[in-house]
Amino acid sequence: MNWDLLLFLKAWVRSPRKVGAVIPSSPILAKAMAKQVELKPGQLVVELGAGTGAVTRALVERGIRPEDLIVIEMDPVFCSRLRQRFPQLRILNIDATRLEPVLRRHHIDRVDTIVSSLPLLSLDRKSQSAILRQSFQLLGGHGTFIQYTYGVGSPIRSRFYRGLGLSGQRLSQIWRNMPPATIWRYRHK
Ligand SMILES: C[S@@+](CC[C@H](N)C(=O)[O-])C[C@H]1O[C@@H](n2cnc3c(N)ncnc32)[C@H](O)[C@@H]1O
Repeated sequence: MNWDLLLFLKAWVRSPRKVGAVIPSSPILAKAMAKQVELKPGQLVVELGAGTGAVTRALVERGIRPEDLIVIEMDPVFCSRLRQRFPQLRILNIDATRLEPVLRRHHIDRVDTIVSSLPLLSLDRKSQSAILRQSFQLLGGHGTFIQYTYGVGSPIRSRFYRGLGLSGQRLSQIWRNMPPATIWRYRHK
């Protein structure tokens, strides 16, 4: 029995729009996401919507140090699983719409990279916009936001990211994922 799959299915039945997928990300997609993170000692990485931890594992295997990684997940069941699996990491059981004030309480006001598995396209507009505004605020002029999508176009509306002075780039298509996914990167021009 694949417990992650079962956990994921149960979460999807409880809240399909928030989970956004029926099965966890494949190791290939997770690795491709982690590969986009530049490895620089001391640079802070935040993962949004970690689920059962496929991308978290890839980030750890990529060499991001535990003290340089913060994991955000709103589902408490996923969070307990993540804490069992990655006891060395800071895992915060919060809604990403509260990202900035929560990180500030941890004395963090700058982040270098955000790696997101959030189902942006199925979140309501208000939550989506709150998460993205706070993310880009934390990333400042130098940071990078990485997101995958199952859709054909950008998971962030071009009017939104261009309005913030950012450019969006489609990086790669991962066929070996269910469903196939595309990785996008957003950063200042
Ligand atoms: C597509 S799943 C993540 C898949 C993950 N890469 C994996 O392999 O397990 C999206 C995740 O985002 C979480 N999520 C959705 N909305 C959220 C929010 N506003 N704040 C934090 N987490 C959220 C869901 O609970 C879910 O675990």
